Amino acid sequence: MKQLKCIFRVALLMVTGFFAAAQSPKNITVKLDGHKADIKQTMWGIFFEDINLAADGGIYAELVKNRSFEFTTPLMGWKEQRKGVVGGSLWVLNRSASNQNNPRYIRIQNALSGNYGITNEGFRGMGIVKDKQYDFSVWARWPKGSKVKLRIELVNAKGEIMGTARLAGGTDEWKKYAVSFMSTATEPRAELAVWFEGKGSVDLDMISLFPKDTWKSRPGGLRADLVQLLADLKPGFIRFPGGCIVEGRDLANRYQWKKTVGKIEDRELIINRWNTEFANRSTPDYFQSFGLGFYEYFLLAEDIGASPLPILNCGMACQFNTAELVPTDQLDPYVQDALDLIEFANGSTQTKWGRLRAAMGHPAPFHLKMMGVGNEQWGPQYIERFTYFAKAIKQKYPSMQLVNSVGPNPDDDRFHFLNDTLRKMKADILDEHYYKPPEWFLQNAKRYDDYDRKGPKIFAGEYAAHSAGIPNGKTKNNWRSALAEAAFMTGLERNADVVNMASYAPLLAHVDGWQWSPDLIWFDNLQSYGSPNYYVQKLFSNNRGSYVVPVEMNQQVMAGQDSLYASASIDKGTNELIIKIANTVGKEQSVSFNLDGWKKTDANAAFTYLHSDDMNAVNSFGMPLEVAPVSKEVEVKNKVLNTILLPNSFSVIRVTL
Ligand code: AHR
Repeated sequence: MKQLKCIFRVALLMVTGFFAAAQSPKNITVKLDGHKADIKQTMWGIFFEDINLAADGGIYAELVKNRSFEFTTPLMGWKEQRKGVVGGSLWVLNRSASNQNNPRYIRIQNALSGNYGITNEGFRGMGIVKDKQYDFSVWARWPKGSKVKLRIELVNAKGEIMGTARLAGGTDEWKKYAVSFMSTATEPRAELAVWFEGKGSVDLDMISLFPKDTWKSRPGGLRADLVQLLADLKPGFIRFPGGCIVEGRDLANRYQWKKTVGKIEDRELIINRWNTEFANRSTPDYFQSFGLGFYEYFLLAEDIGASPLPILNCGMACQFNTAELVPTDQLDPYVQDALDLIEFANGSTQTKWGRLRAAMGHPAPFHLKMMGVGNEQWGPQYIERFTYFAKAIKQKYPSMQLVNSVGPNPDDDRFHFLNDTLRKMKADILDEHYYKPPEWFLQNAKRYDDYDRKGPKIFAGEYAAHSAGIPNGKTKNNWRSALAEAAFMTGLERNADVVNMASYAPLLAHVDGWQWSPDLIWFDNLQSYGSPNYYVQKLFSNNRGSYVVPVEMNQQVMAGQDSLYASASIDKGTNELIIKIANTVGKEQSVSFNLDGWKKTDANAAFTYLHSDDMNAVNSFGMPLEVAPVSKEVEVKNKVLNTILLPNSFSVIRVTL
């Protein structure tokens, strides 16, 4: 279907090209000798936050929900199963005196007869694939004399068995046991059952099930399809762990990186702040196990070639929630967390935190060069707290670049206060956020043209075009929003001397477990797809040039004249000119690019475009490529590239120089 559409479009272009040649094309000049700004390697990146089941239930491939019984309701996700059972009991026990981080476990007294067991429902079920290996593990101890064995089963939605394994008894000391088995079927909503056989009792904790096939086949690792979608973006940086999750609804609920590193079974679980944030998308079973913790984030960054950009709590809880503040005379532990994080990422293996990094498997440094202090904070309270951080960090690590909040909105009083104050303070990088209607993106394509070239650099740290507000489900990742973002992003690229980084937000969403929409990538338990917005990001990121060159129409930048938005750059590595152009009107436009200053005259060019006749078009599991890049070749003759831009389309043209 996609191919047919493509052939039809090419034919249409040939016909319309003929008539358009008769009309006068829009004359566009690309000045190949002009060097407007270098484009940083970090320019196009990604924003990761554990929202919409992005981590637990998403990219973190653990299939068992509430594996350690630490949810507020200890048996949430679990069910006791009693088939013709006499006797048999399950107790939730607490050993907080000896294990503060993971105090709860369950004690099973097996039934005298019948089938007694427990089942776990997974995160909206478990996605299981036929003929793939699954690795079951559990922490357990058997009282002396207990004869209890474990029979592990994967069952489909009809209750049919799809894979089974057995674990015999062990010692009366806590120990990890593991067994692997194959699945005989594919099922998006499987459950895990653990049945008990034999007389006696057993204590269980950290009941876990992972697919063997994770990203880079790491045991207990990440979902390969989702990481691949991220890697395909070739992101320049990855911001983590958020977002508001950094701040917490209150300070106790804030993200504390030190609690997310070290042994998995020692990482203290907390409630996910998105759990009940939105009444209409309430997700009471949303917690953070921190199986994806700061070590794993750094590793992910390294795997996908992205610079790590951690954001830390600055002593302020979310100002949309409690706005709880740490008194400045009690900020030291927060500041110390920031200093220790730098040591964890970059420090020698002789240092306390560098040693931990090495013990976790990565003696080499992670090359951390920048970090954020605070997420969406505002007010003088933020400045006051940031000052403490900046002083301590810059004193010990003068080259560390600090990212500052300028609030949740790019043009209100909160923004202006922070923007003015931080500029006076000579801040390094300002983190601007905009969740706005598509029209705002079109109207703001020149936002950075007048920014102070000598002031702080800009990080467009969270943005997305929202047509109908959040998070009511009406705001879709449709072509209208993606095209508006593409048009706006040409303005980011044109101003690459000021805007050094940009990331769409949020990144990931489970179709059955999201809280916030729109999102860049959608997935269920088995599949995933990129939205039209994803392909816009991919086209920008995969076609990042080395430096910006001027592209003009009527001697002016192209930021809305005749509904056209464009930027151009040179890729020094491949010696190519890259033109990006959005046509945001519902009619095709004939354009003539004059390659001013080019030594050659003729060449072939690769032309890749995104287009839909329907501004409401979205991608889906059924049609994941409904709006996706299509490529063809065009010619440059006598230094001129004539082409037709489809109605409401975004195109990237690469000319070998
Ligand atoms: O991206 C979702 C949320 O939007 C982020 O957590 C927050 O920083 C912003 O308000």
